[in-house]
Amino acid sequence: MNNLYPIQTKVDASKRQQLLNQRPLLIWFTGLSGSGKSTLAVQLEAMLYDRSYKTYLLDGDNIRTGLNKDLTFTEEGRVENIRRIGEVGKLMVDAGLVVLSAFISPFEADRQQVRNIVGRQNYFEVFVDTPLEICEQRDVKGLYRKARAGEVKNFTGIDSPYERPSAPDIRIETDKISIEDAVENLFRTIESRITRKH
Ligand code: ADX
Repeated sequence: MNNLYPIQTKVDASKRQQLLNQRPLLIWFTGLSGSGKSTLAVQLEAMLYDRSYKTYLLDGDNIRTGLNKDLTFTEEGRVENIRRIGEVGKLMVDAGLVVLSAFISPFEADRQQVRNIVGRQNYFEVFVDTPLEICEQRDVKGLYRKARAGEVKNFTGIDSPYERPSAPDIRIETDKISIEDAVENLFRTIESRITRKH
């Protein structure tokens, strides 16, 4: 390993978990722009906070103005975006946090890579499965209109692909279920994964 010598810490992941009294997890939301990833992640994080879980939310629109502001929406840019988030997620999971991430993450191989980076036991995939037509109708940010007009290039679902997850841990159809019910379902599904057994 290129003359690198990783240090041994005295405080390790298991000690941090004891102190925080929880088990870490990376809850990975994937889906089209406007599918509801951020909305669900925000609500779930609030619910977790109310129950004293220590959390952190990573969101594409935020991270792309800071850590990843050098990246574009070409395939290469998206691959690097997700790789970095996988590494950041790994650090946060090691720190003991329940991490929620909301990125389109359109490529199956990149999501698999994140799962490998953080370890499969630490990864929980949420497929926010909202049909393109509905995302486009909602068009909260006006980006679908711009993409159709050719003013935004490489837009996911229009002129850039989205690969549906082959085996998500949970799939949410936001056009068929309320946000409240979806968040409640999510919480019930992950609760045993993030609660420490005594
Ligand atoms: S990802 O594909 O690399 O995972 P990410 O989740 O970080 O994407 O960013 C998506 C957000 O960037 C969208 O919600 C939208 O607001 C904005 N955006 C700007 N240009 C594009 C584009 N060409 N395709 C998709 N989203 C875009």
